[in-house]
Amino acid sequence: MKKIYLASPHMSNEKYEEKYVKEAFDTNWLSTVGENINKFEESVREYLNVESSVALASGTSSIHLGLKALGVKKDDVVFVSDLTFSASVNPIIYENATPVFIDSEYATWNMCPKALEKAFEKYTPKAVIVVHLYGRAANMEEIVEICEKHNVPILEDAAEGLGTIYKGKFLGTYGKCGALSFNGNKIITTTGGGMLVSNDKSITEKARFWSTQSKDPARHYQHSEIGYNYRMSNVLAGIGRGQIKVLEERIAKKKEIFDTYKKAFESIEEIEMMPEGEEERSNYWLSTMTLKEDSKIKPLDIIETLEKENIESRPVWKPMHLQPIFEKYDFIKKDDKKISVGEDLFNRGVCLPSDTKMTNDDIERVINIIKKLFKN
Ligand SMILES: Cc1ncc(COP(=O)(O)O)c(C=O)c1O
Repeated sequence: MKKIYLASPHMSNEKYEEKYVKEAFDTNWLSTVGENINKFEESVREYLNVESSVALASGTSSIHLGLKALGVKKDDVVFVSDLTFSASVNPIIYENATPVFIDSEYATWNMCPKALEKAFEKYTPKAVIVVHLYGRAANMEEIVEICEKHNVPILEDAAEGLGTIYKGKFLGTYGKCGALSFNGNKIITTTGGGMLVSNDKSITEKARFWSTQSKDPARHYQHSEIGYNYRMSNVLAGIGRGQIKVLEERIAKKKEIFDTYKKAFESIEEIEMMPEGEEERSNYWLSTMTLKEDSKIKPLDIIETLEKENIESRPVWKPMHLQPIFEKYDFIKKDDKKISVGEDLFNRGVCLPSDTKMTNDDIERVINIIKKLFKN
C-alpha cells in the first residue's frame, strides 16, 4: 500500500534546489555565509514585499529572536494564541517571560479579537504573538487595531502561513515582525530553517547580530551580549532558493486538494471543512475539518482508519492551556461557555493528508476511505 503523507518535502521538477546546493559545494561556501543565503533572503523579501529579512536555523529561533528584538525580558507578559504548536510559546519561556493564552474564534480558528480585548483589561503585555494556523489568516484587521490602541507590538507566527494574502498583504508583514518556518512539512522547506521578516530593518539586523554569537565589531572576539548559533547554513539556503520558485505552484496544488475534499464531503452532513476567509488567498497548508458534535464517527476513528491504510492524518493542535507544561499560566476565554473554542476545535478536528505530491488517485483513496466510514 502506497504511503500517503500529511505534508512532506516536495522539491521542484526542475531540480533548482540541487543546482544551488551544488553551487555552494563548488564555491566551497559550506558555512553560514554565502550567495545562497543572500539570494534566499532577497527572494523572500521580494515575494512578501517586505523591507528586511534574516535567514535563521528554524521558525522557533525566528520567534525567539523576534521576541528579543521587541524587548521581551524576564517577567514580561506576552499574549499568545492558545490553539497552536508549542513552538509559538517556548521562546517566551526561553526569555523567562510569562505567556498568557488567548482563545480562538470559530471564523478563523485563530486568536479571537474579543478574548484579546478581555486580556488587555487584565494585563499590560510587552508583545502579542498572533499565530496563523493551517494557512488561514487571523483576523488581523481587528487584532492590529486593538494592539495599536494599546501601543503593543505584534509578532506574527506565520510558520504555517507563508504565501497567504490577507486583505492585499502577505501574512508576516502585518506585525512589527513575522516568523516563517521552512521545516520539512511546511509549504516550502529547507529541511529545517526559518526567517524573521520586518519592515523595520533594526529588528532583523539585531536578530542577525544575535544569531551569529553577538560579535562586537573588533579584530578580536569581543562580546557585550549573549549570542546564539541560529544562522541558516548556505547549503540549506540553496534549497530554499530553489523552493521559493515553486511556492505559487504549491499553493495552487494545496487549494486543489482542499477544494477536492470540500466537494467530496459536501454530501456528508457531519463534516465541515475549516472555514475560508473572504478577502483572503489562503495557502491551504493543511486541509482541515471538524466533525459535528453529534457525529457518531469521531476524529480518532478517521485517523486510525487512515493509519491502517498507510495514510497519515492528525488531530488539530491541542490548546496550550491544556498542556501539562503550560497549565499554570493564565488563559483568557472568549466567553463563559464551559468549553473554550480552541478545545472544541481540538476535540472535533482532523488534519487531512495535504501532501502536494498526492495524485488525484491518492486523494480519491483518502476520500473513499472516509466516505465508507460514514456509510457503515
Ligand atoms: C505554528 C507554528 N509555529 C512555529 C513552528 C516552528 O517552526 P520550526 O519547526 O521551523 O522551528 C511551527 C512548525 O514547526 C508551527 O507550526
